[in-house]
Order: sequence, then structure tokens, then C-alpha cells
Amino acid sequence: MSNTQDKVVIITGASSGIGEATAKKLASKGAKLVLAARREDRLQKLQEDIKENGGKAIYKVTDVTSHEQMEELAAYALEEFGQIDVLVNNAGIMPQAFLSKKKIDEWDSMIDVNIKGVLYAIAAVLPYMRERKSGHVINLSSVAGHNIYPGGTVYCGTKHAVRAISEGLRQEEAMSGTNIRVTNVSPGAVNSELLETTSDPEMKTGLDEFYQTAINADSIARTIAFAIEQPSDVAINELIIRPTVQVG
Ligand SMILES: NC(=O)c1ccc[n+]([C@@H]2O[C@H](COP(=O)([O-])OP(=O)(O)OC[C@H]3O[C@@H](n4cnc5c(N)ncnc54)[C@H](OP(=O)(O)O)[C@@H]3O)[C@@H](O)[C@H]2O)c1
Repeated sequence: MSNTQDKVVIITGASSGIGEATAKKLASKGAKLVLAARREDRLQKLQEDIKENGGKAIYKVTDVTSHEQMEELAAYALEEFGQIDVLVNNAGIMPQAFLSKKKIDEWDSMIDVNIKGVLYAIAAVLPYMRERKSGHVINLSSVAGHNIYPGGTVYCGTKHAVRAISEGLRQEEAMSGTNIRVTNVSPGAVNSELLETTSDPEMKTGLDEFYQTAINADSIARTIAFAIEQPSDVAINELIIRPTVQVG
């Protein structure tokens, strides 16, 4: 039996792409899923799919940019399933454009979802995990958290921040002896709805071309499952998963 059986896993951004694929993968391995995102119809459909396949899932409509809603999500997980074993901090957006385009609303949204959302989710589960001396936080960074490229400046900044948050959290919990594992996941190009968050036409054309060789979201779900399945004294801290043919 895998270590995933009966683990309670909160997934933010579960309504599409990597979050949805991860929910399905972990449900098939016996995890109890707590699905979160803003689009209720998608969450409801995913919950039904998981249940039809014999899995366990509940959902709560949640905007990760609201600290209060994240706290309510963690409380709901505890109320329904009695524990929280894993947080998959996955919700994210990628509206790319050159800084000179001054898309300030998009900068604000990226900072709110990709950075503050990640921190609010950690804040919501960390006290509980520390008290229980057990837990696993999995943050979705990106190869954009390792590299920087024109047009991706703010997105890269947010994903570098996620990697810094992952490593800082890892060190703080390791020195505190709380047994909390931290995994930073950095995918390359993955087929999902992420490109739809880019409004700049020039940038969108370049991204569409770059994503011609994108891999499917299940590839990332498999690596997340791998990190969760390790025995509790083993932490997979960093994962970079690219299409084999992706250069940068
Ligand atoms: N696809 C790639 O090539 C790639 C590469 C590297 C890293 N990543 C990272 O992987 C993560 C998942 O992205 P994806 O590729 O699966 O894209 P996606 O299909 O667009 O999924 C993004 C998810 O985030 C949710 N979301 C966005 N804003 C939210 C908010 N304010 N509150 C709650 N949920 C919110 C969306 O749900 P709702 O709209 O329903 O709220 C959706 O479920 C992101 O962090 C992304 O940066 C992706």
C-alpha cells in the first residue's frame, strides 16, 4: 500500500490543468481530496468524476487571494476529514508582457495569486501541521523560478519568490523539528489553461509556439504523487520537470 492511502490533501487551483490532474492521480491512490478554486462548476464535475471512480473528494469555492477564505478552506478540511496531511499550493496565473506595456493590474494579480496566495495557504495549514508534528507542503514554482526571460519578468519574479518561500519554509521547519516536508515543483511547458491568462497578443503568439512541445499535466501529477509517497523521513525538496526537448 502506498503512503498516499487516506492522506488528506488540499489542492488549490484544482479546477483545471495540473491541479485537476493531481487530484485525479492522488484520488486513484486512495487520498482524500479537498478541492479548491473559484469555478464551482469545474470543482463539482471533478468531485463527481473522482467519486464515480471510487475516490473521495470534497470541494470548497476559494479565492486564494483572500486570507480569510484560505483559513475557511483549512477549517473545512479539518471539519470533514479530521486532518490535513498535504497542501498542494498550485493556483497560479501567467499574464506575460514586457514591463514597458505597463500592465499594472496584471502585475498586481500575479503577485496576489502567485505569491500572497501561496503564503496565505501556508499560513492556513502550518499551525495545524506544526501542532501535529506532521505535514507536507508542495509549492508549484516553475522553470521560470530558475530562469528569467523577456516578457516573463513579473511571472519569473513570482515564481522565484515561490522557490524562496519553499526553501525558507523547509529550513525553518527542519530546524524546528516539526517533521514538515517541503517540495518545490518546477515544471517546464505543460498543456493547461495557463496560456489563456496572457492577454498580450505578441506574447501569446510566442507562447503558443513554445508550447507546441508541451507535456501533459499528468506528468506533473506523477511527480507530485512520487514526492508524497516517500516515507516520512524522506523529503523530495526540488523537482524540475521539462519536456525532453525543452532547452530553456
Ligand atoms: N502549465 C505550465 O506550463 C506551467 C509551468 C510551470 C509552472 N506552472 C504552474 O502550475 C500551476 C498550475 O497551473 P496550470 O498550468 O495547471 O494552469 P491552469 O490550467 O490555468 O490552472 C490554474 C488554476 O489556478 C486557479 N486559480 C487562478 N486564480 C485563482 C484564485 N485567485 N483563487 C483560486 N484559484 C485560482 C484556477 O482556477 P479558477 O480559475 O477556477 O479559480 C486554475 O484551477 C500554476 O502555479 C502555474 O504557474 C505551470
